[in-house]
Amino acid sequence: MSGICAVQFALVLTAVWASSGLAAWSQTSPQNLPKKNVKLDSPRGKQVFASNCANCHGLDGRGSERAPNIAERASVQRLSDAQTSHIIENGVPGTGMPAFHSLEHSDVEAIVAYLRTLQGRKRTPKLPGDPIRGETVFFGKAGCSGCHMISGKGGFIASDLSGYAGNRGVDQIRSAITAPTSNGDRLARLVTAMTRTGEKYSGRIRNEDNFSLQLQALDGTFFFVAKSDIERLDSSQSLMPSDYDSTLSHDDLNDVVSYLMRVAHASSRESKAPIEAFEPE
Ligand code: HEC
Ligand code: HEC
Repeated sequence: MSGICAVQFALVLTAVWASSGLAAWSQTSPQNLPKKNVKLDSPRGKQVFASNCANCHGLDGRGSERAPNIAERASVQRLSDAQTSHIIENGVPGTGMPAFHSLEHSDVEAIVAYLRTLQGRKRTPKLPGDPIRGETVFFGKAGCSGCHMISGKGGFIASDLSGYAGNRGVDQIRSAITAPTSNGDRLARLVTAMTRTGEKYSGRIRNEDNFSLQLQALDGTFFFVAKSDIERLDSSQSLMPSDYDSTLSHDDLNDVVSYLMRVAHASSRESKAPIEAFEPE
C-alpha cells in the first residue's frame, strides 16, 4: 500500500520538476539571439550559455538544485569537446538534461568554448617553446621515450605522459622533469633481485605480496620471483633521471614541456589536427 503511494508521489514530483525545467529553458529559445560568425572567444558563447544553460547550471556553470556543477567537476572537465557537444545536442536521456536539437552547431561550439573558460581551461595554452623540436628531443637525445609512453609510442616502465600536462602549468611540468620528487616510492625505483641460485632480475616492482614479487624489466618483460628464492634485493635511486637540469639546455627543456602540453591538449580534445596547427606563442 504505502509502497505504491510512494511511487506515485515520486512520479508526480518528477513530472512537476521536469515541466518547470522545460518551461524555463524553452522560453529562451536560441532563435531570439542575433546570428553572428562565431569566433572562439566571442561573447556569443556566453550569450547562448546564459539563455540556454544558466537557469539550470547557473550563470557560472557551478550548478543549482536543478543541475550539477559543470564548471568544476573533474568528470565534466575531462569530457572532450566532441563529447560535450554530443551531450548538448542529444541531452542525457532519462535525466533532466534536455537535448538542444535546435541549436546550430556553431552555437554548440561557442557554448563549449565558453564552458572551457568557466572551467578555467584555455583552448590554446601558451607554450614556452617549440613542440615539434620537443618531440625530437623526447624521442631522441633526452631518451624520455625509453621509459615513458606518449601517444602510443615509447617505453612501458614509467607512466604514460600523454595526458600529464593537461591540467598542469609550465613551471610545474618543468620541475617534474628537472627536480623529480624522491617521494621514497619503492615502486618507481629500479630493483634488482638476486636469487639463491644466482639469477639476477632487474626491473620495476609492479606487484608485491607476502610471497612474491612481480618485476617488469625495462624492455617490458614481466618476472615473478618467489620471495623465498630471493637472497638479496637492491634498489637503485629513482628511475626518473634527476640531472635533466644539466643535461638538457633551457631551450630543450622548454621544447619538451611544449610537446607534453601540446599532446595533452590535443588528446583531451580528441583532436586529429596535425602538430603543425599549434604555433608556440
Ligand atoms: C532543464 C535543466 C537543464 C538545462 C537547461 C541544461 N542542463 Fe545540462 N544537465 C542537467 C541535468 C539535470 C544534468 C545531469 C544529468 C545526469 O544526471 O547525468 C545535466 C548534465 C549536463 C552535462 C553532463 C554532466 C556529466 O556529468 O556528464 C553537461 C556537459 C551539461 N549538462 C551541459 C549543459 C549545457 C551546455 C547546457 C546548455 C546548452 C545545459 N546543460 C542545459 C540539466 C539541464
Ligand atoms: C630511465 C627511465 C626514465 C627516463 C629516461 C625518464 N623518466 Fe620520467 N619518470 C620515470 C619514472 C620511473 C617516474 C616515476 C613515476 C612514473 O611516471 O612512473 C618518472 C616520472 C616522470 C614525470 C612525473 C610523472 C607523474 O605522473 O608524476 C614526468 C613529467 C616525467 N617523468 C617526464 C620525463 C621526461 C620529459 C623525460 C625526458 C626528458 C623523462 N621523464 C625521462 C622514468 C624515466
